[in-house]
Amino acid sequence: MSDGLIVIGASGHAKVCIELLRDTGQHVSFCVGGADSGDICLGVPVLHGDEHLEALARQGFRRAFVAIGANALRQRLAAAVRALGFELVNAVSPRAMVSPSATIGHGVAIMAGAVINADSSIADLAIINTAASVDHDGVIGEAAHIGPQCGLAGNVHVGPRSFLGIGSRVIPGVSIGADVVAGAGSVIISNVAQNARIAGIPAKTMRKKAP
Ligand SMILES: CC(C)(COP(=O)(O)OP(=O)(O)OC[C@H]1O[C@@H](n2cnc3c(N)ncnc32)[C@H](O)[C@@H]1OP(=O)(O)O)[C@@H](O)C(=O)NCCC(=O)NCCS
Repeated sequence: MSDGLIVIGASGHAKVCIELLRDTGQHVSFCVGGADSGDICLGVPVLHGDEHLEALARQGFRRAFVAIGANALRQRLAAAVRALGFELVNAVSPRAMVSPSATIGHGVAIMAGAVINADSSIADLAIINTAASVDHDGVIGEAAHIGPQCGLAGNVHVGPRSFLGIGSRVIPGVSIGADVVAGAGSVIISNVAQNARIAGIPAKTMRKKAP
């Protein structure tokens, strides 16, 4: 068995995650990217195509991290990787502040400068990006992405696969449904229904693009 790690993804987000993993003393052996990925990602050799995962599992690799920014795709790939017998590790920056009373799932990325406060829970595959904060009793759903510099006040809930764009703000107690997209700089002051696309101050439903 190899204690090397496999990173799924070879994009900019993967670069940040590789550095987080290295910061915690973990060795990334290979990235698995798409046909259009480069051959090297931050010094890590890139294998092209998900079919390599099965061969890597046969070679004894057992630990993986899914570094894909797109939430639903990250969730699907994680299920496939787990089905091959891989364990999903976390990539948590030593420069993040995670409360000892917070609960963190598997396959989670927490970038530098992020703060997770008391009694919060961060589900599997969530991303808490650079300098974002989740205040006390926050609940972040599976494969949700809290963008860089977002500020979530206490008791905010974010549903599975939802994305809050860079610099969004959420007032205390607000509940955001599954698969929501909130544009950069949104200020969210009331509950948000699932699948909504919102933006602005205060955040409102975005106009649909003309066909
Ligand atoms: C919300 C977002 C995803 C929408 O992208 P899109 O579907 O391509 O939408 P468009 O750019 O066509 O914009 C549609 C309308 O919403 C408006 N809009 C888009 N983003 C907005 C924002 N953040 N705040 C306010 N209005 C916004 C546009 O001005 C446009 O308005 P109009 O119809 O009056 O012209 C994108 O604008 C955004 O904010 N992304 C955040 C990215 C981010 O934070 N990434 C971090 C990665 S780590």
